[in-house]
Amino acid sequence: MNRCIVLAARPKGAADLNCFRLETLPIGAPREGEILLRTLWLSLDPYMRGRMSDAPSYVAPVPIGGVMPAGTVACVEKSLNKNLRVGELVLAANGWQEYAVSDGGGLTKLPANIESPSYALGVMGMPGFTAYVGLLDIGKPQPNETVVVAAATGAVGSVVGQIAKLKGCRVVGIAGGTDKCAWAVEELGFDACIDHRAAGLAESLARACPKGIDVYFENVGGKVFQAVLPLINAHARIPVCGLISQYNETPPDGASVQALMRAILVKRISMRGFISSDGFEHRRAEFLETMSAWLRAGKIKYREDVVQGLENAPAAFLGLLAGRNFGKLIVKVGADDNTAGAAR
Ligand SMILES: NC(=O)c1ccc[n+]([C@@H]2O[C@H](COP(=O)([O-])OP(=O)(O)OC[C@H]3O[C@@H](n4cnc5c(N)ncnc54)[C@H](OP(=O)(O)O)[C@@H]3O)[C@@H](O)[C@H]2O)c1
Repeated sequence: MNRCIVLAARPKGAADLNCFRLETLPIGAPREGEILLRTLWLSLDPYMRGRMSDAPSYVAPVPIGGVMPAGTVACVEKSLNKNLRVGELVLAANGWQEYAVSDGGGLTKLPANIESPSYALGVMGMPGFTAYVGLLDIGKPQPNETVVVAAATGAVGSVVGQIAKLKGCRVVGIAGGTDKCAWAVEELGFDACIDHRAAGLAESLARACPKGIDVYFENVGGKVFQAVLPLINAHARIPVCGLISQYNETPPDGASVQALMRAILVKRISMRGFISSDGFEHRRAEFLETMSAWLRAGKIKYREDVVQGLENAPAAFLGLLAGRNFGKLIVKVGADDNTAGAAR
């Protein structure tokens, strides 16, 4: 049987466990040209909160009763497709479920000798690519500039800060809690990391950025952005990657929007929203080559937060929206070996 997690109800305000339902359905049978995929790893990402809502966005919402969307690393269990063999690993958008039938479209084969397949969902995949193009193409960091990154120990933020260090910048992270801040400084090599849950965020950030902020990589919004804005230098760049503090909330009031608009004008700030899956594909090959070289050389460190079992995905996802993950959040859905699959 195929266990899957569907959207049971749209959240009103904060999402909770009642928004999800575990269902068990027969495993689909592949027809000619199709394959059966078994999910090994499932990626949990903040964008999924947006898909639960029917507010207008850059992609359609998940229908009520629809399987929650997700990037997955999956193993080919049965194949009636001449291009894919049993046992091969692929990157697939199978969603929160254990099995899926595919016609082979939209899949990316992973190398047969891949050491850490789950990295394809993190540092070598969508979050790593987002950090790479967002920082380098939009942030354009220059040596000795000050780069501030929010959600600094997460999948995107941890990579942003480390790339900025490789580019010769002063890097200041903003993260939730002393453990995360210590890890950013001691393990990732950031120059400072400010705890946004502690009192005096604006003052601490000002002390850590004596020359102001030249690049602010926005992952969070809300009170973190309010602390950043007064420190923004003339001609600063702000890649707007995400606004996770607002995903469960109503939009900010008009006064803070007015302060933002004035700052954009008088400081001649370049502020650009971006979605890494839209318009950056020409950067993919360079990213994969550069990031794998940095990982091999130990120049980029990467941390995963692994949750066991599909049934635990909803609680883990709610934890992501509350800052309970520490590193890239992924779910181990199925065993790695190819004998444990469809026959189970
Ligand atoms: N534009 C794109 O193409 C794109 C692609 C991928 C991701 N994103 C965005 O990038 C951001 C980071 O995503 P990620 O996958 O790397 O997630 P992540 O950082 O691994 O996890 C989310 C983190 O956000 C922080 N957070 C949650 N609520 C917060 C709040 N109210 N105030 C401050 N911080 C809060 C928490 O860290 P702390 O405990 O440190 O606060 C939490 O651990 C998200 O906004 C996401 O939507 C955008």
